[in-house]
Amino acid sequence: MSLDIRQGFSAPATETTTLSSASGNEWWRSAVIYQIYPRSFADGMGDDGLGDLIGITERLPALVELGVDAVWLSPFYTSPQKDAGYDVADYCDVDPIFGTLADFDALEKRVHELGLKLIVDLVPNHSSDQHAWFQEALAAPEGSPERDRYMFREGKGLNGELPPNNWDSVFGGSAWSRLTNPDGTPGQWYLHIFDSSQPDLNWQNPWVREQFRDILRFWLDRGVDGFRVDVAHGLIKAAGLPDYTAPADGGSMGGSGTLGLEPQIDANLDDDNTPPYWAQDGVHEIYRDWHSVLEEYEGDRVLCAEAWVEPLAKLARWVRPDEMQQAFNFSYLETPWSGPTMRAIINASLVAFTGVGAPSTWVMSNHDVVRHASRLAMTAENPQGHGIGPRSPGRPVRSLGLRRARAATTLMLALPGSAYLYQGEELGLPEVIDLPDEARQDPTWFRTDGERYGRDGCRVPIPWEADAPSYGFGPSGKSWLPQPADWAPYARDSQRGVSGSTLELYRSLLAGRSIADLGLGHVEWLTGYPDAVVAFRNGSVTVIANTGTEPVELPAGEIIVASEELDGRSLPGDTAVWLRA
Ligand code: NOJ
Repeated sequence: MSLDIRQGFSAPATETTTLSSASGNEWWRSAVIYQIYPRSFADGMGDDGLGDLIGITERLPALVELGVDAVWLSPFYTSPQKDAGYDVADYCDVDPIFGTLADFDALEKRVHELGLKLIVDLVPNHSSDQHAWFQEALAAPEGSPERDRYMFREGKGLNGELPPNNWDSVFGGSAWSRLTNPDGTPGQWYLHIFDSSQPDLNWQNPWVREQFRDILRFWLDRGVDGFRVDVAHGLIKAAGLPDYTAPADGGSMGGSGTLGLEPQIDANLDDDNTPPYWAQDGVHEIYRDWHSVLEEYEGDRVLCAEAWVEPLAKLARWVRPDEMQQAFNFSYLETPWSGPTMRAIINASLVAFTGVGAPSTWVMSNHDVVRHASRLAMTAENPQGHGIGPRSPGRPVRSLGLRRARAATTLMLALPGSAYLYQGEELGLPEVIDLPDEARQDPTWFRTDGERYGRDGCRVPIPWEADAPSYGFGPSGKSWLPQPADWAPYARDSQRGVSGSTLELYRSLLAGRSIADLGLGHVEWLTGYPDAVVAFRNGSVTVIANTGTEPVELPAGEIIVASEELDGRSLPGDTAVWLRA
């Protein structure tokens, strides 16, 4: 296959950006993958207002009806839940609040019976402080092999009273906490890039690497199709742990990170400003090792990197042929609703990933960011991970956000590659802005004394039935975060079969994507439109998205699906359409 690709976007009449020169029909190249956040999906055990594995299994048919190809489960492992399960105390067991290993096996069986694939989360950068490995390290003397599993260091200052360096925790405050020795004297410090309950593992230690090979095999043996790898840019820290001062717009997870600003496209790949705890070269050796573990298994298994790395050309290193298969495209997620920027990012994505034979991924929402049905109408800056709440400036107008979100998803699901959806976006759910302070649970909220709201607003349990207690989330009527009183119209049963609903829009898009095989196609840019319009052809489908305010005339052709009802042949602002031209 010939490639005609160029760096950057210049909008020539027939420039074609081909998805991949590497032939391959592995399912993950084009799959639409639905993220389930277990605590907020469905409460099948029905007793505590927390979702669980039984609830997921019961509700799987709704996802088949929606038309996705795979599900990714956020962590359900044994955990004190200090960071909603991203603080793992046993990587090979299910937390009782979510069920049992037998419940997991039943879920895995049902997922595969239904013809879906199953991806689980892997959290290798840190464990919980309650993990036996850390407890053993605490009980062992300084310099012991047990302490070498984590990042223990002596403090600075006359008596070691200062942290070993100036690194900040992603969730606020210092990234170091100091131990108290059994005799009451102050001891060593340990590194936690996230909460103090999440000590960073020492990935220079071969023992740690061996443990994680076993963990991968444990879940692969149970039948999972792959892993979403948490903080995949963070496992290796720069030698000597040098001090670092982040630029003012540094996002919390490590990208440029200020939603609403231009994402980076052409920045230096190896500039001097790479934080010493992110995107160090040493991580790649680990993923080559894991690649070979996955190859021990039949079928096409997948690793997807959660790596907040920019620019895209650098992120592509995570998906070189012998490393991971996918990486979340956060540059795309952070792209504002603007024609020129979206074209540039789509082009840069296809160029970067095609260059290493990998598919691009596309994602708009997840459990760490403001839901895109609100985000796309925000008028104030909002650094990634900070969240929004009652006191945030620039409260998004709900109708505008939803309209843009529907258009943005119509555009996204026509792109070649693999797309990730976050539970509830198919219902058009907005961010819950007005959560009461006392309900908030994100460690960011606590570590910043309420200065940053954190991510609870996108994690509220989703509505299934308009008239049931907790909107059908679970029979107890409880919900671990309060659901808004006005969510009945968003409930799945309010939208099912209703023409024009967001749910039916998603179903049409997913069916159309599958029929036209858009996931394995390529982008051919169309020109002659105003700057605010993103227009391209993917195979037999012409896609036109109007991010502006002025209507544009549509070309001849049958309308396959539109994000809003159209009046004649004109495409209004904040609307997108698929045509068979
Ligand atoms: C990224 C996860 O998506 C987020 O929810 C979590 O808090 C951090 N990694 C730490 O594990």
